[in-house]
Amino acid sequence: MTGANDILQLDRAHVWHPCTQMKDHEQQPPLEIVRGDGSLVFDAAGRRYIDGISSWWVNLLGHAHPRLTRVLQEQAATLEQVIFAGFTHAPGARLAARLCAAAPGGYAKVFYADCGSAAVGQPRKRRFLSIVGAYHGETLGALSVGGLALYREKFAPLLLDTLLVPGPDCFRCPCQQTRATCAAECFAPMQAALDAHAADLAAVFIEPLVQCANGMNMYSPVYLKKLAAACAAAGVHLIADEIAVGFGRTGTLFACEQAGIAPDFMCLSKGLTGGYLPFAAVLVRDLQTFDAFYGEHAEQKAFYHSHSYTGNPMACRLALETLDILETEVLAALPARITALQHVLASLAGLEHVGETRQCGFIGAIELVAARAGKRAYPPEQRTGWQVYRAALRRGAILRPLGDVVYFMAPLTIPLDVLEELGAIARDSIREVTER
Ligand SMILES: Cc1ncc(COP(=O)(O)O)c(C=O)c1O
Repeated sequence: MTGANDILQLDRAHVWHPCTQMKDHEQQPPLEIVRGDGSLVFDAAGRRYIDGISSWWVNLLGHAHPRLTRVLQEQAATLEQVIFAGFTHAPGARLAARLCAAAPGGYAKVFYADCGSAAVGQPRKRRFLSIVGAYHGETLGALSVGGLALYREKFAPLLLDTLLVPGPDCFRCPCQQTRATCAAECFAPMQAALDAHAADLAAVFIEPLVQCANGMNMYSPVYLKKLAAACAAAGVHLIADEIAVGFGRTGTLFACEQAGIAPDFMCLSKGLTGGYLPFAAVLVRDLQTFDAFYGEHAEQKAFYHSHSYTGNPMACRLALETLDILETEVLAALPARITALQHVLASLAGLEHVGETRQCGFIGAIELVAARAGKRAYPPEQRTGWQVYRAALRRGAILRPLGDVVYFMAPLTIPLDVLEELGAIARDSIREVTER
């Protein structure tokens, strides 16, 4: 039998954790989580934590969801995996049809991958365009279309040549319009880039409505509408990365619905399996791309790319069940939760060091500032957001920040009283760190 201390020792000796300065663990060892239940997880000592960030945005319907656990068990006992080249199975075929029908505007084909980064894909024409602050994952292709220096810089010599243009930044933008109407001036750099480079560009990558990794930067659907129209006019594909924002997070099943657009490709992952298994799908809207790879064997045109776990039946089954639960139970109850989140954010907006609170559907963010006047940022070395995270952890909530942006991206099923508790923990933790 291995005790809690043994686990920490084994971890310390052998595990290299993702997105972590491992030296931090000399002072603050990782928490050993042993169990999840709904919006809560429990550590080895039995303490409960509200999962305010859905475990990196994947846990859509709460931990250990009885229906998801049941279909996973059933599927594992029946067919846990089979090669998806030359073979198919009911969950894979049904899910493809279901996703094609559910996505706005209707899609023709689905290609399965095994994580969000893999879903972001490979170049066909020469260059991609994306916006500053974009995050699309961490394979070299996905990193190449990312626009966050923190992730890009160390690998810059290895990356594809991508065109990065300034995108909407409503917190610091001088135009001072509201998010609902803004996008006129903010769209100008994108239009100029498309005008200048259309002939070169294979596609534009965009995270619809919220650049999550970029401090939950939220922007207007008007920007997306303009982008879709401009891409169509320029003959450049539009790829919507709904990996973080899809499946109800923004209040609609897909974020693109709010702009009334149907991008050429849509990348899905994270919530797709309710957060149970790594899995991703790329939706392809029309047959033009598919046909480019379609032909006689001798033509050697096939899309000869794959992942070992492509179309994993357990993941497909979980995704089908997730869609059922969303459509029959969760989406109808979402407006009440979105309103409750609005109240939580309103209760935080007046704090001395809150520069802004913002919300898109069931995603809420709190921008911490050293001074409200001029929206003066804290010196990064103070790690203000990180300190709030530690303070919240002591109070029983997981609110891992993005720099000095503390945010809520809780499971869509979080009970309203737990959401309120999460808000109270955020308030007390922010005050503890910023008002001392
Ligand atoms: C918008 C977006 N795209 C892609 C990814 C990469 O997904 P994964 O971590 O599963 O590779 C992420 C992960 O956070 C994301 O937020």
